[in-house]
Amino acid sequence: MKRIYFNEVVTRDGFQIEPNFIPTDDKVGLIDALSQCGYAKIEVTSFVSPKAIPMLRDAEEVMARIQRVAGVEYTVLVPNLRGAERAMASRADELNLVMSTSETHNRANLRQSREDSFAGLASVIQWVDGKTPINVSLSTCFGCPMEGDVPLTEVMRFAHRFADLGVRGLTICDTTGMAHPAQVEAMAEAMLQAFPQLQMTFHFHNTRGMGVANVMAAARSGIDRFDGSLGGLGGCPYAPGASGNISSEDAIHLLMCLGYETGIDLDRLLAIGRGLPEVVGHSVPGQMIKAGRITDLHPAPA
Ligand code: COA
Ligand code: ZN
Repeated sequence: MKRIYFNEVVTRDGFQIEPNFIPTDDKVGLIDALSQCGYAKIEVTSFVSPKAIPMLRDAEEVMARIQRVAGVEYTVLVPNLRGAERAMASRADELNLVMSTSETHNRANLRQSREDSFAGLASVIQWVDGKTPINVSLSTCFGCPMEGDVPLTEVMRFAHRFADLGVRGLTICDTTGMAHPAQVEAMAEAMLQAFPQLQMTFHFHNTRGMGVANVMAAARSGIDRFDGSLGGLGGCPYAPGASGNISSEDAIHLLMCLGYETGIDLDRLLAIGRGLPEVVGHSVPGQMIKAGRITDLHPAPA
């Protein structure tokens, strides 16, 4: 059975677009519950400017208070050297650096050119000096909501430059749900061929309803790491039209149905997911929380 490694991003990508501040206690409680579900990795928070993402201004406190479970990696999003210093002080297991492959989105999200971002992240990698593993998330790899197509050659160009700096992994992000399965297959093939030595993660949003179809296309093309967000929450506040990530539980259920080994306790995860609307104060897009597994039968009507 092929193993899939799942990274839960609900308290980072999921929460960063929520309008109302979610109390630190709720974040810590949610992460502690998710730590019991069998995830390979949890993206806990972002060490970004609190002015850019006020929701995650409690990043230090969350990192200090969570109960770390052996076997789960606790990763954090980092945009610059200041973020890396904070992440290292918080003893993150991995630094997830971020930049966009679209010039326009990079300027909107990180307020600088791609070249300046690359140079800044290269200096972060040098500063970390192998003390903590580095992943790089490349945004808008399947299309930019402002520029349109982002050529595969452009994605590969940045991927190669980071691979040359010795990163452990890359995450290929579909920031605003523009990917479709044929494009995903081509991307997976290109990435796996070029970077067999790297941990290769795919990150989808379900903006156009193709999220789990893209997971299936990627998994069948050999990708074994995915990001997902409980309940399908999420989105980048600096990408017009952004909406929720793929819902972790919907994707995990699909992968289980296809015979993949995810290591996830789905019943436990669904129980946590059912509590999510109370945490965020509104209903969430995920389907499995509402419908249950395909094996959950209902009594016949009387
Ligand atoms: N952590 C905390 N504070 C930070 C920071 C970090 N990693 N990086 C910058 N800051 C602070 C600076 O200290 C400065 O504070 P001040 O105004 O009180 O002096 C302020 O943010 C502006 O710093 P500057 O270097 O001029 O950055 P900027 O305004 O050009 O913003 C980013 C650049 C990258 C820091 C900011 O746009 C950001 O954090 N973006 C994150 C976007 C994001 O998370 N998007 C969603 C996920 S992809
Ligand atoms: Zn995302």
